[in-house]
Amino acid sequence: MNMRTRVGIIGAGPAGLMLSLLLSREGIDSIVLENRSQEAIEATIRAGVLEQGTVDLMTDMGLAERMQREGAAHHGIELRFDGEGHRIPLSELTNGRAITVYPQHEVLKDLIAARLKQGGPLLFTVNDVQVSDVSSSQPIIRFVHEHEQIELQCDFIAGCDGFHGVSRSAIPEAVQHVFSRIYPFGWLGILMQAPPSSDELIYAYHDRGFALVSTRSPDLQRMYIQCDPNDDIANWSDAMILEELQLRLATKDHWQLRTGPIIQKNILAMRSFVIEPMQYGRLFLAGDAAHIVPPTGAKGLNLAVADVRHLARALTSFYKENRTDHLEAYSTTCLRRVWRAEHFSWWMTSMLHRFTDDDAFYQQLQRAQLDYTVRSPAAATSLAENYVGLPFTW
Ligand code: FAD
Ligand code: PHB
Repeated sequence: MNMRTRVGIIGAGPAGLMLSLLLSREGIDSIVLENRSQEAIEATIRAGVLEQGTVDLMTDMGLAERMQREGAAHHGIELRFDGEGHRIPLSELTNGRAITVYPQHEVLKDLIAARLKQGGPLLFTVNDVQVSDVSSSQPIIRFVHEHEQIELQCDFIAGCDGFHGVSRSAIPEAVQHVFSRIYPFGWLGILMQAPPSSDELIYAYHDRGFALVSTRSPDLQRMYIQCDPNDDIANWSDAMILEELQLRLATKDHWQLRTGPIIQKNILAMRSFVIEPMQYGRLFLAGDAAHIVPPTGAKGLNLAVADVRHLARALTSFYKENRTDHLEAYSTTCLRRVWRAEHFSWWMTSMLHRFTDDDAFYQQLQRAQLDYTVRSPAAATSLAENYVGLPFTW
């Protein structure tokens, strides 16, 4: 079967879904192809922190009703080290900007509902997605849906299929510049049925390794501890995880972690990755398909949203004004923000994690950096403006 659309979008993550909604607002048709089921997408626990700009965009698009009700605005974070907590007052340092804690899978439910309400098209559980002819004016996506082989002719293809997707490989290797770093540690993430232990997120530096206290709702908390990325989650009993959290988060004034049953736990590896350029012919990569950051800066989802905002604008100026300059500038425009976020995420990661056991010099540098960040308003402002997110036209 043959189908046609203006923009073929591979992947129904934050990037792909947001792009389809931004385009339909401008009357530009697209088809979203996703290889997982709707249930699987809506049940995968990932990010939690939305930048001010992401929240503003969702509000502007009429997608913020549930987020406003169930999400929580946070005006500060805590950096904890040597048994003491230090508040970084994000909003005070950034003219009132804030972050919102609202889980990625809830964002996805809202975006999927909005897309389906418009009548789609949004196809789940597609197989064997292949991208071809990207240097021609009629690129093609071939895929299988409900046992039928389909050929989708497009004007443009948006590769929004995440780090493990297929679209990036349609850029010839000779053109690709890949920058990457794999960290020698991972995060063990848990969901715990308990009340919040803190009103704000806590990023803790400790000799035993990093720990992070985040939240999901008044009775569900999200926490992470630095661990060996190759460790097996089966080696971690709930009691061991709780003990490790308590040790790493302990303060001189006996702060208490509120605990409850752990209902989910997993280990994730951490890497930094960028491919340049983010465009080849009529293929445009967006989000994790083009770049990965370690989660310490809470930037991944927000970067994905920023990419597709630029892409939607560029495609709109192509269809409405016959302009190609924004499309041509897409990669350069996005990469400026991408590298800023890469640097911030690497910086937060380097400052807060234990790298090796025997590098006392490096550990003193980390302490000096933490101390400077909490004592100098200039340093704290730098953290705050990156954390709440730089302006869209960065
Ligand atoms: P994805 O969300 O990966 O979506 C890609 C979609 O494409 C997926 O649904 C996938 O199934 C589909 N797909 C893949 N291959 C194919 C194919 N061949 N055909 C069709 N479909 C395909 N970011 C933040 O901003 N803030 C945070 O607090 C934060 N915390 C995080 C915590 C954790 C533990 C993790 C793992 C990540 C975190 N992130 C965070 C990062 C964030 O989750 C990602 O950056 C974000 O999901 C990227 O969105 P995306 O749409 O580019 O890719
Ligand atoms: C989360 O809530 O999952 C979360 C929060 C902050 C981060 C990363 C993840 O830096």
